[in-house]
Amino acid sequence: MKQLIQKLTETFSPSGFESAIREVIKQEVQPLADEVRVDALGNLIVRKGAKAKNGKRIMLAAHMDEIGLMVSHIDENGFIRFSNIGGIRTGGLLSGRVQFTNGTQGLIGVERDLFAAKSPTFSQYYIDVGATSAKNCPVKIGDVAAFKRPFLELGQRLVAKSMDDRIGCAVLIEALRALKTSPHELYFVFTTQEEVGPRGAATSAFGIDPEIGLAVDVTLTGDTPKSKYMAISLGKGPAVKVKDTGMLSDQHIVEWMCSTAEKKRIPYQREVLDGGSTDAMAIQMTRSGVLAGCLSVPCRYVHTPSEMVDYEDVQNSVKLLVALISAPLNL
Ligand code: ZN
Ligand code: CO
Repeated sequence: MKQLIQKLTETFSPSGFESAIREVIKQEVQPLADEVRVDALGNLIVRKGAKAKNGKRIMLAAHMDEIGLMVSHIDENGFIRFSNIGGIRTGGLLSGRVQFTNGTQGLIGVERDLFAAKSPTFSQYYIDVGATSAKNCPVKIGDVAAFKRPFLELGQRLVAKSMDDRIGCAVLIEALRALKTSPHELYFVFTTQEEVGPRGAATSAFGIDPEIGLAVDVTLTGDTPKSKYMAISLGKGPAVKVKDTGMLSDQHIVEWMCSTAEKKRIPYQREVLDGGSTDAMAIQMTRSGVLAGCLSVPCRYVHTPSEMVDYEDVQNSVKLLVALISAPLNL
């Protein structure tokens, strides 16, 4: 599974520009699916199985886009100013490397008099792609880049850019691979544009019209020096979301997830997240409403170029997801 995670996280596909990652995922899921299609917003929708007695129509969603940078201005010397795609944290920017979807690479600098400043603002950073003028600058207004950082193994911990949410994509792919039988009509959806508001999940959920929706995404942790109080740590198992900024999970879904984990002896954590939301928010509010919840993979340093997860948590997330979608369900 580590190879798959490396392949997914080293692909460059910021929100709205998901074609590269969609191709990578399509290769993985095509042989495992009953049907694969792409909707107008670029969501990759993978159907598996049909509804039996006690079966439900279940939508699983992991977003395949990542945060990124978009060229907004190029000055006479070829320095590029940029707009954010999603929640870029300025703390992770300085001296970082980026790669544009056309292959151009660059580094992120900051205006000289701010180099030692405590916290330069977003607009005081720029990208240097080695150009000397606007004319020979190899990118144009509207081109996008993502962080460039190789996948890294640190013992039990895995580090990469775009763990948010390629790790969710990896969990969905591995669950699809591991699934033996299911009474449910299952939709594994690799959504677009989550990082700019869950736009792909909104349209795909409307199209699928699920009875139950589960997002698989990362959540923050409270286990680094001077973290805010948060009862989530790396290595203590996948998290069952109870609440985040955009959603209160359905209580039956929370109960179903927790009791399944207990039955299968999979460690899990209960999650209350004060900051951010997921595709589950859009699924829950589609049409006349959907029972929704979220399985979260604990992740440190979210929205920086080096996001960290625990490999055992990832494997336990796959186990929990497979257990959830394999058994009949009365909700
Ligand atoms: Zn995410
Ligand atoms: Co995110």
